[in-house]
Amino acid sequence: MAGNIKLVVCKDDAEVAKKAAVMFADVIKAKPSAVIGLATGSTPEKTYAEMAQLHRTQGLSFKQVMSFNLDEYWGLDGDHDQSYRYFMNDHLFQHVDIRPWNTFVLNGKATNPYLECQAYETKIVSVGGVDIWLLGIGGNGHIAFNEPGSAVDSRTRLVNLTPETIAANSDGRFFKSAAEVPRCALSAGIGTIREARSIVLLATGAKKADAVAAAVEGDFSTACPASLLQDHADCTFIVDEAAAGKLKNAR
Ligand code: PGA
Repeated sequence: MAGNIKLVVCKDDAEVAKKAAVMFADVIKAKPSAVIGLATGSTPEKTYAEMAQLHRTQGLSFKQVMSFNLDEYWGLDGDHDQSYRYFMNDHLFQHVDIRPWNTFVLNGKATNPYLECQAYETKIVSVGGVDIWLLGIGGNGHIAFNEPGSAVDSRTRLVNLTPETIAANSDGRFFKSAAEVPRCALSAGIGTIREARSIVLLATGAKKADAVAAAVEGDFSTACPASLLQDHADCTFIVDEAAAGKLKNAR
């Protein structure tokens, strides 16, 4: 499939973060009660710092914004320092004026994962859907914890992490050893993500170059979950030069 994905190539990760933060700021300025989708991982950290900076210096207000995070480790409490709830509080929520009760992160300790996932989907629908969703990409092409093989119409569910993802998250940036990484997570599905009105995927560094090339220029295939964004009406990849390194037609 000749993809619809819009590609923005930046010189480095600082420029990626600035561009992404401005895209979110524009959505929030146009609609102060915007529903935004958020991601965790190393890649969006600088983007959240930029958003916090826009809040401090330009008065960008998150007071009416509602947020939904993509995923959460199964078995981790929100106050565990490797949980994604903790990450979001630490990197963004504590630095802006978003109301804590308007931030939705799946509960990794829910009694019933099925009901937790259903409630999350229902909540998104009840607030009118997500206006703009920020994504990272795994070295294996995953989006959220939708590992290769995940269906295009998959919904929020309990998933198993692949060995590559466990290894990537225990390389010292997050968990210290693979043994500490939970084996499962709750993750928004690819179908859930595709329903966002606009999608912004960030990729930085040479480690992401193969996944970016497969997603943008490869087949529309569950082998590379991010390629399943190719037919989305409004999807932008913001990547640095290193992550764009394997694209044949970098625009
Ligand atoms: P990273 O993770 O930003 O830590 O590289 C991205 C992802 O796995 O989606």
